[in-house]
Amino acid sequence: MTRKIVLSGARPTGDVHLGNYFGALHNWVKLQDQYDCHFFIADWHALTTGYADTHALHEHTISLIADFLAVGLDPEKSVLFLQSEVPQHAELFLLFAMNTPLSWLERCPTYKDQINQLKEKDLTTYGFLGYPCLQAADILAYKADFVPVGEDQIPHLELTREIARRFNHLYQSPVFPEPQPLLTAAKVLPGTDGRKMSKSYGNTISFADDPETVRQKVMNMVTDPARIRKTDPGHPDICSVFAFHKIFSPDEVDSIRSQCEGGQIGCVACKKQCAAKVAEFHTPIHEKRTGLLQDPDHLVQIIKDGSAKARELAARTMAEARAAVRIGL
Ligand code: TRP
Ligand code: SF4
Repeated sequence: MTRKIVLSGARPTGDVHLGNYFGALHNWVKLQDQYDCHFFIADWHALTTGYADTHALHEHTISLIADFLAVGLDPEKSVLFLQSEVPQHAELFLLFAMNTPLSWLERCPTYKDQINQLKEKDLTTYGFLGYPCLQAADILAYKADFVPVGEDQIPHLELTREIARRFNHLYQSPVFPEPQPLLTAAKVLPGTDGRKMSKSYGNTISFADDPETVRQKVMNMVTDPARIRKTDPGHPDICSVFAFHKIFSPDEVDSIRSQCEGGQIGCVACKKQCAAKVAEFHTPIHEKRTGLLQDPDHLVQIIKDGSAKARELAARTMAEARAAVRIGL
């Protein structure tokens, strides 16, 4: 039985945090048993916004593979690889760059948004504009059927389908399938301040944090600001600690809700309970990643092995694409 092909990638931009985990990685781990999975470290993508400061790129690549493995991505089940070790991504990107209209790239909603948001960086570059073409190459090099992505990536995936369609049409060869998004109800874990968990807000809990840091972060979390005394009725739905309980203590949320609303539990006690649950989940992953990082050569070997498999797959597609374009010998 041939399984459907899944592909997704993550940028090596720093430590993986719980928001990344519950937003994506957790789902990737589960997909491994059902699909032919390919997960990669998108280091070329990191250059689209981070080209000017690459000093931590290698370190972030190594720590990302450690995080991948620590949460349960398994090189025996999935192809785990590094984008820049598979030159076919760049080659296919080049072919797509030849026939993708500028207007498609310019109207991509994230394009102008990001230029405005990341003001400190000069993103008026060729590579940043062309980033959806690179993403299309990432996906189509493996003829992926499904791409697990968040809502924000849906326009990019639509662009990938348009690029595939245009290529197939121009060269009268059905080389590329049209990949579909795999939207799973991601569990939303807010940051410690109640906003979206994000490195730029400084409100993350990451797998690199040691257990004591994690405990302190939970104890300092923002709760219902109106609650001063334990007997004040609380509003769990606006409390980030409660959002954590929903994920880490699913069996106890109903009781926590009624105790909070009824003024029967204080926030400090509630946070302590939360910190214990977070630790139960976080500590083993933290320890696994710390152990893996003791032996970076082993991690490099895992990346190399996965990348060799990826090259083999991508080379097959690339041969078909070159033949369709009638380029080369
Ligand atoms: N764009 C994604 C991000 O920034 C990473 C990514 C690159 C990706 N290529 C991809 C995701 C292909 C899915 C498929 O997080
Ligand atoms: Fe939040 Fe718990 Fe305090 Fe209620 S008791 S406001 S859920 S920390």
